[in-house]
Amino acid sequence: MAFPPAFLDELNARNPIEDVVSQYVQLTRRGSNLFGLCPFHSEKTPSFSVAPDKGIYYCFGCHKGGGPVNFIMEIEGLDYPDAVRFLAKRAGLEVPEDAEYRSAYKKQERLRNLCKEAARFYRQELFAPGGQAARDYLVRRGVSSQTVSRFGLGYSPDAWSALLDTMTKKGYTNEELLDAGLALKSQKGSCYDRFRNRLMFPIIDVRGNVIGFGGRVMDDSKPKYLNSPETSIFNKRKNLFALNVAKKTKAGMLILTEGYMDAIALHQYGFDCAVASLGTALTEEHAQLLAKYTKQVVLTYDGDEAGQNATRRAIPMLERAGLQVKILRMQGAKDPDEFLKAYGANKFQALLQKSENQAEYRLISLQNKYDLSDDAQKVSFLKEASELISTFTTPVEREVYATRAAQAAGITPESMLQEVSRAYRRRTAQAKKRRERADLDVAGQQQPKEKGLRYDNIKSAVAEEQVLAQVLKEPALLPTVKLLPEQFSSPLLGKAFGLLLQCQRDGRPLSLGTLEGDFTPEEMNHLSAVVRRRDELVSEQALADCANVVRDAYEKSLRSGEDALLAVQQKLRTKKGYGG
Ligand code: CTP
Ligand code: MN
Repeated sequence: MAFPPAFLDELNARNPIEDVVSQYVQLTRRGSNLFGLCPFHSEKTPSFSVAPDKGIYYCFGCHKGGGPVNFIMEIEGLDYPDAVRFLAKRAGLEVPEDAEYRSAYKKQERLRNLCKEAARFYRQELFAPGGQAARDYLVRRGVSSQTVSRFGLGYSPDAWSALLDTMTKKGYTNEELLDAGLALKSQKGSCYDRFRNRLMFPIIDVRGNVIGFGGRVMDDSKPKYLNSPETSIFNKRKNLFALNVAKKTKAGMLILTEGYMDAIALHQYGFDCAVASLGTALTEEHAQLLAKYTKQVVLTYDGDEAGQNATRRAIPMLERAGLQVKILRMQGAKDPDEFLKAYGANKFQALLQKSENQAEYRLISLQNKYDLSDDAQKVSFLKEASELISTFTTPVEREVYATRAAQAAGITPESMLQEVSRAYRRRTAQAKKRRERADLDVAGQQQPKEKGLRYDNIKSAVAEEQVLAQVLKEPALLPTVKLLPEQFSSPLLGKAFGLLLQCQRDGRPLSLGTLEGDFTPEEMNHLSAVVRRRDELVSEQALADCANVVRDAYEKSLRSGEDALLAVQQKLRTKKGYGG
Protein backbone atom coordinates (compact mmCIF):
# COMPACT_ATOMS: atom_id res chain seq x y z
CA MET A 1 0.00 0.00 0.00
CA ALA A 2 1.63 3.21 -1.10
CA PHE A 3 0.47 6.72 -0.31
CA PRO A 4 1.11 9.46 -2.87
CA PRO A 5 4.33 11.40 -2.09
CA ALA A 6 2.55 14.76 -2.17
CA PHE A 7 0.20 13.54 0.53
CA LEU A 8 3.09 12.28 2.66
CA ASP A 9 4.87 15.61 2.34
CA GLU A 10 1.74 17.41 3.44
CA LEU A 11 1.38 14.93 6.29
CA ASN A 12 4.91 15.62 7.46
CA ALA A 13 4.52 19.36 7.11
CA ARG A 14 1.36 19.30 9.20
CA ASN A 15 2.84 17.00 11.83
CA PRO A 16 6.12 18.61 12.89
CA ILE A 17 8.13 16.01 14.75
CA GLU A 18 8.43 18.18 17.86
CA ASP A 19 4.63 18.60 18.05
CA VAL A 20 3.94 14.93 17.59
CA VAL A 21 6.53 13.84 20.12
CA SER A 22 5.62 16.44 22.71
CA GLN A 23 2.16 14.91 23.01
CA TYR A 24 3.88 11.96 24.65
CA VAL A 25 7.18 13.30 25.98
CA GLN A 26 8.00 16.45 27.86
CA LEU A 27 10.72 18.17 25.84
CA THR A 28 13.17 20.89 26.78
CA ARG A 29 15.10 22.90 24.27
CA ARG A 30 18.89 22.65 24.14
CA GLY A 31 20.28 24.64 21.27
CA SER A 32 18.53 23.73 18.09
CA ASN A 33 17.44 20.36 19.45
CA LEU A 34 14.98 19.23 22.07
CA PHE A 35 15.57 16.61 24.72
CA GLY A 36 13.37 14.49 26.96
CA LEU A 37 13.07 11.16 28.73
CA CYS A 38 12.89 8.36 26.20
CA PRO A 39 9.43 6.80 26.02
CA PHE A 40 10.86 3.57 24.64
CA HIS A 41 13.19 2.62 27.45
CA SER A 42 13.32 3.62 31.08
CA GLU A 43 15.88 6.23 32.01
CA LYS A 44 16.46 8.97 34.55
CA THR A 45 18.42 11.46 32.46
CA PRO A 46 17.17 12.50 29.03
CA SER A 47 18.93 10.90 26.08
CA PHE A 48 15.97 11.14 23.75
CA SER A 49 16.43 13.93 21.25
CA VAL A 50 14.27 15.63 18.67
CA ALA A 51 15.84 17.51 15.78
CA PRO A 52 13.11 19.70 14.25
CA ASP A 53 15.32 20.80 11.35
CA LYS A 54 15.89 17.17 10.35
CA GLY A 55 12.37 16.06 11.06
CA ILE A 56 13.55 13.19 13.23
CA TYR A 57 13.84 11.89 16.76
CA TYR A 58 16.70 9.78 18.00
CA CYS A 59 17.49 8.18 21.33
CA PHE A 60 21.17 8.03 22.19
CA GLY A 61 20.32 5.44 24.83
CA CYS A 62 18.26 2.80 23.03
CA HIS A 63 19.08 3.89 19.46
CA LYS A 64 15.54 4.14 18.28
CA GLY A 65 14.87 6.87 15.79
CA GLY A 66 12.91 8.02 12.78
CA GLY A 67 10.33 10.51 11.62
CA PRO A 68 6.85 11.25 12.94
CA VAL A 69 5.31 8.17 11.34
CA ASN A 70 7.97 5.91 12.88
CA PHE A 71 7.35 7.56 16.22
CA ILE A 72 3.64 6.84 16.06
CA MET A 73 4.24 3.29 14.85
CA GLU A 74 6.46 2.69 17.83
CA ILE A 75 4.48 4.41 20.55
CA GLU A 76 0.97 3.49 19.43
CA GLY A 77 1.90 0.02 18.25
CA LEU A 78 0.56 0.61 14.75
CA ASP A 79 1.82 -0.58 11.39
CA TYR A 80 2.98 1.92 8.79
CA PRO A 81 -0.31 2.59 6.99
CA ASP A 82 -2.23 2.89 10.24
CA ALA A 83 0.35 5.28 11.68
CA VAL A 84 -0.06 7.43 8.56
CA ARG A 85 -3.82 7.36 9.04
CA PHE A 86 -3.37 8.24 12.70
CA LEU A 87 -1.30 11.32 11.86
CA ALA A 88 -3.63 12.31 9.05
CA LYS A 89 -6.51 12.30 11.48
CA ARG A 90 -4.49 14.32 13.97
CA ALA A 91 -3.80 16.96 11.35
CA GLY A 92 -7.28 16.89 9.87
CA LEU A 93 -6.03 15.57 6.54
CA GLU A 94 -8.05 13.29 4.35
CA VAL A 95 -6.19 10.08 3.48
CA PRO A 96 -6.23 9.32 -0.22
CA GLU A 97 -6.98 5.64 0.22
CA ASP A 98 -6.82 3.53 -2.87
CA ALA A 99 -9.68 1.36 -3.93
CA GLU A 100 -7.77 -1.67 -2.73
CA TYR A 101 -7.55 -0.34 0.81
CA ARG A 102 -11.16 0.71 0.80
CA SER A 103 -12.19 -2.77 -0.21
CA ALA A 104 -9.76 -4.44 2.21
CA TYR A 105 -11.17 -2.32 5.02
CA LYS A 106 -14.71 -3.14 4.01
CA LYS A 107 -13.83 -6.80 3.90
CA GLN A 108 -12.38 -6.65 7.40
CA GLU A 109 -15.43 -4.78 8.64
CA ARG A 110 -17.56 -7.63 7.27
CA LEU A 111 -15.39 -10.21 9.05
CA ARG A 112 -15.59 -8.29 12.31
CA ASN A 113 -19.37 -8.20 12.01
CA LEU A 114 -19.42 -11.86 11.14
CA CYS A 115 -17.42 -12.71 14.26
CA LYS A 116 -19.76 -10.60 16.36
CA GLU A 117 -22.76 -12.42 14.91
CA ALA A 118 -21.04 -15.74 15.48
CA ALA A 119 -20.39 -14.87 19.14
CA ARG A 120 -24.06 -13.99 19.49
CA PHE A 121 -25.04 -17.27 17.89
CA TYR A 122 -22.77 -19.34 20.16
CA ARG A 123 -24.16 -17.52 23.16
CA GLN A 124 -27.74 -18.29 22.17
CA GLU A 125 -26.79 -21.92 21.65
CA LEU A 126 -25.40 -22.09 25.16
CA PHE A 127 -28.84 -21.28 26.52
CA ALA A 128 -30.73 -23.41 23.99
CA PRO A 129 -31.74 -26.98 24.90
CA GLY A 130 -28.69 -28.35 23.06
CA GLY A 131 -26.44 -26.34 25.38
CA GLN A 132 -27.32 -28.33 28.47
CA ALA A 133 -24.03 -30.24 28.61
CA ALA A 134 -22.04 -27.03 28.20
CA ARG A 135 -24.03 -25.33 30.94
CA ASP A 136 -23.42 -28.32 33.20
CA TYR A 137 -19.73 -28.16 32.40
CA LEU A 138 -19.61 -24.48 33.37
CA VAL A 139 -21.33 -25.24 36.64
CA ARG A 140 -18.87 -28.05 37.28
CA ARG A 141 -16.00 -25.67 36.74
CA GLY A 142 -17.60 -23.08 38.97
CA VAL A 143 -18.07 -20.41 36.34
CA SER A 144 -20.87 -18.08 37.46
CA SER A 145 -23.57 -16.84 35.10
CA GLN A 146 -22.30 -13.32 35.67
CA THR A 147 -18.88 -14.42 34.38
CA VAL A 148 -20.50 -16.15 31.42
CA SER A 149 -22.15 -12.92 30.37
CA ARG A 150 -19.16 -10.70 31.17
CA PHE A 151 -16.99 -12.72 28.77
CA GLY A 152 -19.75 -13.60 26.35
CA LEU A 153 -19.06 -17.32 26.62
CA GLY A 154 -20.97 -19.60 24.30
CA TYR A 155 -21.37 -23.07 22.89
CA SER A 156 -20.82 -24.36 19.38
CA PRO A 157 -23.41 -27.08 18.61
CA ASP A 158 -22.43 -30.64 17.86
CA ALA A 159 -23.18 -30.32 14.14
CA TRP A 160 -21.31 -29.74 10.89
CA SER A 161 -23.02 -26.64 9.68
CA ALA A 162 -24.95 -25.00 12.50
CA LEU A 163 -22.99 -21.75 12.31
CA LEU A 164 -22.57 -21.96 8.56
CA ASP A 165 -26.31 -22.22 7.95
CA THR A 166 -27.20 -19.44 10.34
CA MET A 167 -24.60 -17.04 8.96
CA THR A 168 -25.47 -17.87 5.37
CA LYS A 169 -29.02 -16.87 6.13
CA LYS A 170 -27.69 -13.57 7.39
CA GLY A 171 -26.01 -12.98 4.05
CA TYR A 172 -22.43 -14.07 4.74
CA THR A 173 -20.68 -16.16 2.11
CA ASN A 174 -18.73 -19.37 2.58
CA GLU A 175 -15.67 -17.45 1.54
CA GLU A 176 -16.18 -15.01 4.38
CA LEU A 177 -16.68 -17.80 6.91
CA LEU A 178 -13.41 -19.34 5.73
CA ASP A 179 -11.63 -15.98 5.88
CA ALA A 180 -12.85 -15.41 9.42
CA GLY A 181 -11.48 -18.83 10.41
CA LEU A 182 -14.92 -20.03 11.40
CA ALA A 183 -15.27 -22.64 8.71
CA LEU A 184 -13.03 -25.23 7.05
CA LYS A 185 -13.08 -26.71 3.59
CA SER A 186 -13.24 -30.47 3.08
CA GLN A 187 -11.23 -32.22 0.39
CA LYS A 188 -14.35 -32.41 -1.71
CA GLY A 189 -14.59 -28.65 -1.46
CA SER A 190 -17.58 -28.30 0.82
CA CYS A 191 -17.48 -26.09 3.89
CA TYR A 192 -18.13 -27.10 7.47
CA ASP A 193 -17.99 -25.49 10.91
CA ARG A 194 -14.52 -25.32 12.50
CA PHE A 195 -15.90 -25.27 16.03
CA ARG A 196 -18.18 -28.12 16.99
CA ASN A 197 -19.37 -29.21 20.42
CA ARG A 198 -17.05 -26.84 22.25
CA LEU A 199 -17.33 -24.26 24.95
CA MET A 200 -16.59 -20.99 23.16
CA PHE A 201 -14.45 -18.10 24.39
CA PRO A 202 -14.73 -15.03 22.17
CA ILE A 203 -11.47 -13.13 21.81
CA ILE A 204 -12.15 -9.42 21.87
CA ASP A 205 -9.62 -6.72 21.04
CA VAL A 206 -9.14 -3.54 23.07
CA ARG A 207 -11.50 -1.68 20.79
CA GLY A 208 -14.27 -4.17 21.57
CA ASN A 209 -14.29 -6.13 18.29
CA VAL A 210 -14.71 -9.89 18.37
CA ILE A 211 -11.74 -11.06 16.32
CA GLY A 212 -11.52 -14.78 17.01
CA PHE A 213 -12.42 -17.65 19.30
CA GLY A 214 -10.98 -20.27 21.54
CA GLY A 215 -13.02 -23.42 21.93
CA ARG A 216 -12.62 -26.02 24.69
CA VAL A 217 -13.81 -29.61 24.64
CA MET A 218 -15.93 -30.61 27.60
CA ASP A 219 -14.35 -34.01 28.09
CA ASP A 220 -10.85 -35.42 27.72
CA SER A 221 -10.76 -35.54 23.94
CA LYS A 222 -8.04 -33.83 21.98
CA PRO A 223 -7.18 -31.16 21.16
CA LYS A 224 -8.29 -29.64 24.44
CA TYR A 225 -8.41 -26.19 22.93
CA LEU A 226 -8.99 -25.19 19.36
CA ASN A 227 -8.30 -21.59 18.41
CA SER A 228 -9.17 -19.43 15.46
CA PRO A 229 -6.27 -19.31 13.00
CA GLU A 230 -4.56 -16.04 12.18
CA THR A 231 -6.86 -14.03 9.92
CA SER A 232 -6.82 -10.55 8.46
CA ILE A 233 -8.47 -9.33 11.66
CA PHE A 234 -6.89 -11.70 14.20
CA ASN A 235 -3.21 -11.45 15.03
CA LYS A 236 -2.22 -13.61 18.00
CA ARG A 237 1.04 -11.80 18.47
CA LYS A 238 -0.77 -8.54 19.10
CA ASN A 239 -3.78 -9.47 21.16
CA LEU A 240 -4.40 -10.74 24.66
CA PHE A 241 -7.49 -12.41 25.98
CA ALA A 242 -9.58 -10.32 28.43
CA LEU A 243 -7.53 -7.16 27.94
CA ASN A 244 -10.71 -5.46 26.76
CA VAL A 245 -12.04 -5.89 30.31
CA ALA A 246 -8.77 -5.70 32.26
CA LYS A 247 -7.67 -2.43 30.68
CA LYS A 248 -10.22 -0.64 32.90
CA THR A 249 -8.80 -2.05 36.14
CA LYS A 250 -7.77 0.20 38.98
CA ALA A 251 -5.40 -2.41 40.39
CA GLY A 252 -2.30 -0.66 39.04
CA MET A 253 -1.02 -3.89 37.49
CA LEU A 254 -1.98 -6.56 35.02
CA ILE A 255 -1.80 -10.25 35.85
CA LEU A 256 -0.62 -12.33 32.93
CA THR A 257 -1.77 -15.94 32.81
CA GLU A 258 -1.38 -18.76 30.33
CA GLY A 259 -4.97 -19.88 30.05
CA TYR A 260 -8.40 -18.53 29.22
CA MET A 261 -9.84 -20.29 32.24
CA ASP A 262 -7.20 -18.77 34.50
CA ALA A 263 -7.99 -15.23 33.38
CA ILE A 264 -11.71 -15.89 33.70
CA ALA A 265 -11.43 -17.41 37.16
CA LEU A 266 -9.31 -14.49 38.35
CA HIS A 267 -11.94 -12.02 37.20
CA GLN A 268 -14.65 -14.01 38.89
CA TYR A 269 -12.69 -13.95 42.14
CA GLY A 270 -12.30 -10.19 41.99
CA PHE A 271 -8.97 -9.81 40.19
CA ASP A 272 -10.24 -7.70 37.33
CA CYS A 273 -6.73 -7.11 36.01
CA ALA A 274 -6.11 -10.60 34.59
CA VAL A 275 -5.31 -11.29 30.94
CA ALA A 276 -4.16 -14.40 29.07
CA SER A 277 -1.98 -15.00 26.07
CA LEU A 278 -3.66 -16.84 23.23
CA GLY A 279 -2.12 -20.26 23.32
CA THR A 280 1.16 -18.82 22.03
CA ALA A 281 4.36 -17.66 23.65
CA LEU A 282 4.51 -14.05 24.75
CA THR A 283 5.80 -11.69 22.05
CA GLU A 284 7.47 -8.28 22.06
CA GLU A 285 4.19 -6.94 20.69
CA HIS A 286 2.32 -8.33 23.68
CA ALA A 287 4.81 -6.68 26.01
CA GLN A 288 4.32 -3.36 24.27
CA LEU A 289 0.57 -3.75 24.35
CA LEU A 290 0.68 -4.40 28.10
CA ALA A 291 2.93 -1.40 28.60
CA LYS A 292 0.24 0.83 27.14
CA TYR A 293 -2.07 -0.01 30.01
CA THR A 294 0.14 -0.59 33.01
CA LYS A 295 3.59 -0.23 34.53
CA GLN A 296 3.60 -3.54 36.36
CA VAL A 297 2.96 -7.06 35.18
CA VAL A 298 2.64 -10.08 37.43
CA LEU A 299 3.45 -13.38 35.77
CA THR A 300 1.40 -16.35 36.95
CA TYR A 301 2.47 -19.07 34.61
CA ASP A 302 2.05 -22.73 35.43
CA GLY A 303 4.49 -24.19 37.92
CA ASP A 304 5.59 -26.93 35.50
CA GLU A 305 8.80 -26.93 33.48
CA ALA A 306 7.13 -25.39 30.42
CA GLY A 307 5.59 -22.63 32.51
CA GLN A 308 8.91 -21.83 34.17
CA ASN A 309 10.67 -21.67 30.83
CA ALA A 310 7.98 -19.37 29.54
CA THR A 311 8.48 -17.19 32.63
CA ARG A 312 12.21 -16.92 32.04
CA ARG A 313 11.60 -15.95 28.42
CA ALA A 314 8.93 -13.41 29.27
CA ILE A 315 10.86 -11.48 31.94
CA PRO A 316 13.45 -9.74 29.71
CA MET A 317 10.82 -9.08 27.06
CA LEU A 318 8.56 -7.32 29.51
CA GLU A 319 11.46 -5.42 31.00
CA ARG A 320 12.52 -4.22 27.58
CA ALA A 321 9.04 -2.74 27.19
CA GLY A 322 9.73 -0.75 30.36
CA LEU A 323 7.53 -2.87 32.57
CA GLN A 324 8.21 -3.76 36.15
CA VAL A 325 7.90 -7.53 36.40
CA LYS A 326 6.90 -9.65 39.35
CA ILE A 327 6.53 -13.37 39.45
CA LEU A 328 3.88 -15.12 41.46
CA ARG A 329 4.91 -18.55 42.66
CA MET A 330 2.11 -20.97 43.22
CA GLN A 331 2.25 -24.01 45.41
CA GLY A 332 -0.35 -26.70 45.76
CA ALA A 333 -2.01 -25.94 42.45
CA LYS A 334 -1.09 -26.08 38.80
CA ASP A 335 -2.57 -22.78 37.71
CA PRO A 336 -4.49 -19.78 39.10
CA ASP A 337 -7.85 -21.34 38.25
CA GLU A 338 -7.10 -24.44 40.33
CA PHE A 339 -5.52 -22.38 43.08
CA LEU A 340 -8.53 -20.10 43.46
CA LYS A 341 -10.92 -23.04 43.59
CA ALA A 342 -8.81 -24.84 46.17
CA TYR A 343 -7.77 -21.95 48.42
CA GLY A 344 -9.89 -18.90 47.59
CA ALA A 345 -9.28 -15.26 46.78
CA ASN A 346 -7.64 -14.24 50.04
CA LYS A 347 -4.90 -16.81 49.70
CA PHE A 348 -4.29 -15.69 46.15
CA GLN A 349 -4.16 -12.08 47.28
CA ALA A 350 -1.49 -13.11 49.80
CA LEU A 351 0.53 -14.75 47.03
CA LEU A 352 0.16 -11.63 44.93
CA GLN A 353 1.55 -9.51 47.74
CA LYS A 354 4.40 -11.93 48.18
CA SER A 355 5.12 -12.09 44.48
CA GLU A 356 8.79 -11.88 43.80
CA ASN A 357 10.80 -9.45 41.77
CA GLN A 358 13.02 -11.15 39.33
CA ALA A 359 16.09 -11.19 41.58
CA GLU A 360 14.19 -13.08 44.25
CA TYR A 361 12.57 -15.26 41.68
CA ARG A 362 15.86 -16.36 40.23
CA LEU A 363 17.49 -16.92 43.60
CA ILE A 364 14.60 -18.98 44.90
CA SER A 365 14.43 -20.99 41.68
CA LEU A 366 18.10 -21.78 42.14
CA GLN A 367 17.58 -22.69 45.77
CA ASN A 368 14.82 -25.12 44.80
CA LYS A 369 17.20 -26.92 42.48
CA TYR A 370 19.43 -28.07 45.32
CA ASP A 371 19.04 -30.16 48.44
CA LEU A 372 20.67 -27.84 50.96
CA SER A 373 20.96 -30.52 53.63
CA ASP A 374 23.57 -32.20 51.46
CA ASP A 375 26.99 -30.57 51.85
CA ALA A 376 28.19 -31.08 48.30
CA GLN A 377 24.98 -29.68 46.89
CA LYS A 378 25.15 -26.79 49.32
CA VAL A 379 28.57 -25.84 47.97
CA SER A 380 27.31 -25.99 44.39
CA PHE A 381 24.34 -23.85 45.33
CA LEU A 382 26.54 -21.23 46.98
CA LYS A 383 28.84 -21.11 43.99
CA GLU A 384 26.01 -20.64 41.54
CA ALA A 385 24.23 -18.21 43.84
CA SER A 386 27.27 -15.96 44.18
CA GLU A 387 27.63 -15.89 40.40
CA LEU A 388 23.96 -14.95 40.08
CA ILE A 389 24.02 -12.34 42.85
CA SER A 390 27.14 -10.76 41.42
CA THR A 391 25.08 -9.83 38.34
CA PHE A 392 22.62 -7.74 40.39
CA THR A 393 23.14 -4.08 39.66
CA THR A 394 23.23 -2.29 43.00
CA PRO A 395 25.41 -3.06 46.06
CA VAL A 396 22.29 -3.00 48.22
CA GLU A 397 20.68 -5.72 46.12
CA ARG A 398 23.83 -7.78 46.24
CA GLU A 399 24.02 -7.46 50.00
CA VAL A 400 20.35 -8.26 50.61
CA TYR A 401 20.35 -11.38 48.45
CA ALA A 402 23.75 -12.58 49.59
CA THR A 403 22.42 -12.48 53.14
CA ARG A 404 19.34 -14.43 52.11
CA ALA A 405 21.34 -17.09 50.31
CA ALA A 406 23.64 -17.37 53.31
CA GLN A 407 20.69 -17.88 55.62
CA ALA A 408 19.21 -20.52 53.33
CA ALA A 409 22.48 -22.45 53.31
CA GLY A 410 23.28 -21.83 56.95
CA ILE A 411 26.58 -19.99 56.51
CA THR A 412 27.54 -16.54 57.73
CA PRO A 413 26.48 -13.56 55.62
CA GLU A 414 30.09 -12.32 55.69
CA SER A 415 31.56 -15.31 53.92
CA MET A 416 28.78 -15.24 51.36
CA LEU A 417 29.38 -11.55 50.72
CA GLN A 418 33.04 -12.29 50.20
CA GLU A 419 32.15 -14.93 47.62
CA VAL A 420 29.86 -12.50 45.88
CA SER A 421 32.38 -9.71 45.74
CA ARG A 422 34.99 -12.12 44.36
CA ALA A 423 32.57 -13.11 41.62
CA TYR A 424 31.72 -9.47 41.09
CA ARG A 425 35.37 -8.47 40.68
CA ARG A 426 35.95 -11.30 38.25
CA ARG A 427 32.94 -10.24 36.26
CA THR A 428 33.91 -6.56 36.08
CA ALA A 429 37.47 -7.49 35.12
CA GLN A 430 36.14 -9.63 32.28
CA ALA A 431 33.83 -6.86 31.18
CA LYS A 432 36.71 -4.42 31.17
CA LYS A 433 38.77 -6.72 29.03
CA ARG A 434 35.90 -7.11 26.62
CA ARG A 435 35.49 -3.34 26.44
CA GLU A 436 39.17 -2.87 25.74
CA ARG A 437 39.05 -5.45 23.03
CA ALA A 438 36.00 -3.71 21.57
CA ASP A 439 37.78 -0.35 21.69
CA LEU A 440 40.61 -1.84 19.68
CA ASP A 441 38.13 -3.16 17.24
CA VAL A 442 37.27 0.28 15.92
CA ALA A 443 35.80 -1.19 12.80
CA GLY A 444 33.41 -3.19 14.93
CA GLN A 445 32.28 -0.01 16.65
CA GLN A 446 31.26 1.52 13.40
CA GLN A 447 28.93 -1.33 12.63
CA PRO A 448 25.22 -0.52 12.84
CA LYS A 449 23.65 -1.26 16.18
CA GLU A 450 20.61 -2.75 14.50
CA LYS A 451 20.67 -6.50 14.23
CA GLY A 452 20.69 -7.71 10.66
CA LEU A 453 22.43 -4.63 9.32
CA ARG A 454 26.13 -4.94 8.58
CA TYR A 455 28.63 -2.92 6.63
CA ASP A 456 30.85 -4.90 4.26
CA ASN A 457 33.31 -2.08 3.79
CA ILE A 458 33.64 -0.04 6.97
CA LYS A 459 35.87 2.65 5.55
CA SER A 460 33.54 3.36 2.68
CA ALA A 461 30.43 3.06 4.84
CA VAL A 462 31.71 5.66 7.30
CA ALA A 463 32.27 8.06 4.40
CA GLU A 464 28.83 7.20 3.04
CA GLU A 465 27.31 8.02 6.42
CA GLN A 466 29.07 11.36 6.35
CA VAL A 467 27.80 12.11 2.87
CA LEU A 468 24.22 11.42 3.93
CA ALA A 469 24.51 13.39 7.16
CA GLN A 470 25.97 16.39 5.38
CA VAL A 471 23.50 16.58 2.51
CA LEU A 472 20.65 16.23 4.94
CA LYS A 473 22.02 19.13 6.89
CA GLU A 474 22.70 21.20 3.80
CA PRO A 475 20.40 20.00 0.98
CA ALA A 476 21.75 22.68 -1.33
CA LEU A 477 24.99 20.70 -1.52
CA LEU A 478 23.38 17.53 -2.83
CA PRO A 479 23.92 18.42 -6.51
CA THR A 480 27.65 18.87 -5.83
CA VAL A 481 28.05 15.24 -4.78
CA LYS A 482 29.40 13.31 -7.72
CA LEU A 483 28.21 9.90 -6.62
CA LEU A 484 25.71 7.34 -7.82
CA PRO A 485 23.62 5.31 -5.37
CA GLU A 486 25.08 2.08 -6.73
CA GLN A 487 28.57 3.23 -5.83
CA PHE A 488 27.69 3.02 -2.15
CA SER A 489 29.05 -0.11 -0.48
CA SER A 490 26.05 -0.22 1.85
CA PRO A 491 22.83 -0.94 -0.04
CA LEU A 492 20.85 0.76 2.71
CA LEU A 493 22.83 4.01 2.61
CA GLY A 494 22.86 3.88 -1.18
CA LYS A 495 19.10 3.51 -1.26
CA ALA A 496 18.71 6.50 1.06
CA PHE A 497 21.01 8.55 -1.14
CA GLY A 498 19.09 7.54 -4.26
CA LEU A 499 15.80 8.52 -2.67
CA LEU A 500 17.19 11.90 -1.68
CA LEU A 501 18.25 12.50 -5.28
CA GLN A 502 14.77 11.51 -6.37
CA CYS A 503 13.19 13.87 -3.85
CA GLN A 504 15.31 16.69 -5.11
CA ARG A 505 14.40 15.97 -8.73
CA ASP A 506 10.72 15.93 -7.75
CA GLY A 507 11.04 19.14 -5.80
CA ARG A 508 10.06 17.44 -2.56
CA PRO A 509 11.47 18.55 0.79
CA LEU A 510 14.74 16.88 1.60
CA SER A 511 14.47 15.36 5.07
CA LEU A 512 14.96 11.93 6.48
CA GLY A 513 11.51 12.17 8.01
CA THR A 514 9.87 12.10 4.60
CA LEU A 515 11.56 8.82 3.68
CA GLU A 516 10.04 6.76 6.49
CA GLY A 517 7.70 4.84 4.25
CA ASP A 518 10.56 3.46 2.20
CA PHE A 519 12.38 1.80 5.07
CA THR A 520 11.64 -0.68 7.82
CA PRO A 521 11.57 0.73 11.35
CA GLU A 522 14.94 -0.93 12.02
CA GLU A 523 16.47 0.73 8.98
CA MET A 524 15.00 4.06 10.07
CA ASN A 525 16.52 3.58 13.53
CA HIS A 526 19.87 3.21 11.90
CA LEU A 527 19.50 6.08 9.46
CA SER A 528 18.43 8.37 12.29
CA ALA A 529 21.47 7.26 14.26
CA VAL A 530 23.67 8.08 11.28
CA VAL A 531 22.50 11.63 10.84
CA ARG A 532 22.47 12.35 14.57
CA ARG A 533 25.85 10.76 15.24
CA ARG A 534 27.55 12.42 12.30
CA ASP A 535 26.41 15.86 13.28
CA GLU A 536 29.58 17.47 12.03
CA LEU A 537 30.41 20.60 10.12
CA VAL A 538 29.38 20.63 6.52
CA SER A 539 31.54 21.93 3.74
CA GLU A 540 31.72 21.33 0.05
CA GLN A 541 35.32 20.19 0.46
CA ALA A 542 34.52 17.73 3.26
CA LEU A 543 31.70 16.37 1.17
CA ALA A 544 33.95 15.96 -1.87
CA ASP A 545 36.57 14.17 0.27
CA CYS A 546 33.99 11.73 1.53
CA ALA A 547 32.66 11.15 -1.97
CA ASN A 548 36.20 10.37 -3.10
CA VAL A 549 36.62 7.73 -0.43
CA VAL A 550 33.39 6.12 -1.54
CA ARG A 551 34.30 6.24 -5.21
CA ASP A 552 37.79 4.82 -4.58
CA ALA A 553 36.37 1.96 -2.60
CA TYR A 554 33.84 1.32 -5.32
CA GLU A 555 36.48 1.25 -8.06
CA LYS A 556 38.66 -0.97 -5.96
CA SER A 557 35.79 -3.39 -5.48
CA LEU A 558 35.20 -3.39 -9.22
CA ARG A 559 38.84 -4.17 -9.83
CA SER A 560 38.88 -6.97 -7.30
CA GLY A 561 35.71 -8.23 -8.94
CA GLU A 562 37.50 -8.19 -12.28
CA ASP A 563 40.55 -9.82 -10.74
CA ALA A 564 38.35 -12.55 -9.35
CA LEU A 565 36.77 -12.99 -12.75
CA LEU A 566 40.18 -13.13 -14.41
CA ALA A 567 41.34 -15.66 -11.87
CA VAL A 568 38.35 -17.86 -12.59
CA GLN A 569 38.93 -17.63 -16.32
CA GLN A 570 42.59 -18.41 -15.79
CA LYS A 571 41.72 -21.45 -13.75
CA LEU A 572 39.28 -22.69 -16.35
CA ARG A 573 41.86 -22.32 -19.03
CA THR A 574 44.43 -24.25 -17.03
CA LYS A 575 41.91 -26.96 -16.40
CA LYS A 576 41.07 -27.32 -20.02
CA GLY A 577 44.75 -27.51 -20.80
CA TYR A 578 45.02 -24.20 -22.62
CA GLY A 579 48.19 -23.56 -20.70
CA GLY A 580 48.68 -20.45 -18.62
N1 CTP B 1 -3.90 -24.14 24.57
C1 CTP B 1 -4.16 -24.26 23.21
N2 CTP B 1 -4.28 -25.49 22.64
C2 CTP B 1 -4.15 -26.62 23.38
C3 CTP B 1 -3.85 -26.53 24.73
C4 CTP B 1 -3.74 -25.26 25.31
O1 CTP B 1 -4.30 -23.27 22.55
N3 CTP B 1 -4.28 -27.82 22.78
C5 CTP B 1 -3.76 -22.80 25.15
C6 CTP B 1 -5.10 -22.25 25.60
O2 CTP B 1 -5.10 -20.85 25.35
C7 CTP B 1 -5.10 -22.54 27.06
C8 CTP B 1 -3.65 -22.38 27.42
O3 CTP B 1 -2.95 -22.82 26.29
O4 CTP B 1 -5.93 -21.64 27.75
C9 CTP B 1 -3.22 -23.12 28.64
O5 CTP B 1 -3.37 -24.51 28.44
P1 CTP B 1 -3.59 -25.52 29.64
O6 CTP B 1 -2.77 -25.12 30.80
O7 CTP B 1 -3.50 -26.90 29.11
O8 CTP B 1 -5.11 -25.32 29.92
P2 CTP B 1 -5.85 -24.52 31.04
O9 CTP B 1 -5.81 -23.08 30.77
O10 CTP B 1 -5.45 -24.98 32.38
O11 CTP B 1 -7.31 -24.96 30.70
P3 CTP B 1 -8.27 -25.83 31.55
O12 CTP B 1 -8.15 -25.34 32.95
O13 CTP B 1 -9.57 -25.56 30.91
O14 CTP B 1 -7.85 -27.24 31.39
MN1 MN C 1 -6.42 -25.01 34.11
